[in-house]
Amino acid sequence: MENRNLDAALSPVILGIESSCDDTAAAVVAGGRLRSTIVSSQHIHTVFGGVVPELASRAHQQLVVPIVEQALHEAGVRREDLDAIAVTYGPGLAGSLLVGLSFAKAYAYGLDIPLIGVNHLEGHIYSVFLNEDGPAFPFLCLVVSGGHTQLVLVEDGFRHTILGSTLDDAAGEAFDKVAKLLDLGYPGGPVIDRLAREGNPTFHDFPRSRPGEYDFSFSGLKTSVLYFLNRFSEEERRAFLKDHLADLCASFQQAVVDVLLAALERAIVATGAREAAIVGGVSANTRLRRSAGDLARKLGVRLHVPAPIHSVDNGAMIAMTGQFKLAAGITSPLTLTAQPNLSL
Ligand code: KG4
Ligand code: ZN
Repeated sequence: MENRNLDAALSPVILGIESSCDDTAAAVVAGGRLRSTIVSSQHIHTVFGGVVPELASRAHQQLVVPIVEQALHEAGVRREDLDAIAVTYGPGLAGSLLVGLSFAKAYAYGLDIPLIGVNHLEGHIYSVFLNEDGPAFPFLCLVVSGGHTQLVLVEDGFRHTILGSTLDDAAGEAFDKVAKLLDLGYPGGPVIDRLAREGNPTFHDFPRSRPGEYDFSFSGLKTSVLYFLNRFSEEERRAFLKDHLADLCASFQQAVVDVLLAALERAIVATGAREAAIVGGVSANTRLRRSAGDLARKLGVRLHVPAPIHSVDNGAMIAMTGQFKLAAGITSPLTLTAQPNLSL
């Protein structure tokens, strides 16, 4: 038993579970290395052009057991080998969070191992430690997802200072809403990213708003895409999009990238940060990754961006955050409840 405890301290085996929105995901991290990661995206929501909470929660119920079993199997780990279970407890959809959290609590109780509640946004921030070479603390982190857009100074010991946030839509939400205007389906980010590769980013100059030094606002940008399209009759619009859909996507995307990176640049200069990170679903964006790389070279900072599969929601980032928390002695009681509005 003593040896087992020593092993656990040196190289804990942690199962991470994520079910805050429409992805059911589980992963195993052992000794700081990712051993498996399984994500099941719920395609049912595509039909509705957005996530339907009740359907998401029902799908999580069906998927959580097989996804966890697959993650353990692919990692070559038995349940009894687990040292802790990390799980997202907020922010997110209440019904979705409840499924993953209830499962994790029961599993931790049954195996008599610690439960570690993870804030989904912390999970995104710590996703950069899944890279071969993670950042040193403190680092500046731009969190850009479907629900959040925040610029955060991350210090060791789970201390975060929020420098700025979006005042309205999140960056990913802007991608999703503009994609909906263009009938491109859900989620919109990956589709716009792909189409924009063939388009001209200077085709139309959409507004770049700057509501504060480090704050963001994307609802005006979304509205200006709407107004741009409303100038056309139905027939003209069809003809225009036939020729210029890629240009429109590229121009919109460029406006989002410019706004995000301008705030990041101001923050790097003002804080003198040497390390910066971009995380969350939108950090999968090709243009953002490329331009952020250019910015980092210009400013001489080390930039950390997760692999695209770790940018979007996944269980690996939750398991990795769990590992940091366990090492810091932070665990959660089995009375932990889902917190849909949890902030950093
Ligand atoms: O982090 P995430 O998977 O879930 C949330 O925590 O919200 O982020 C999902 C968001 C969606 O809005 C999606 O459209 C966006 O990330 N996204 C992208 C790309 N891939 C996902 N946005 C732009 N370009 C992408 N390649
Ligand atoms: Zn997320």
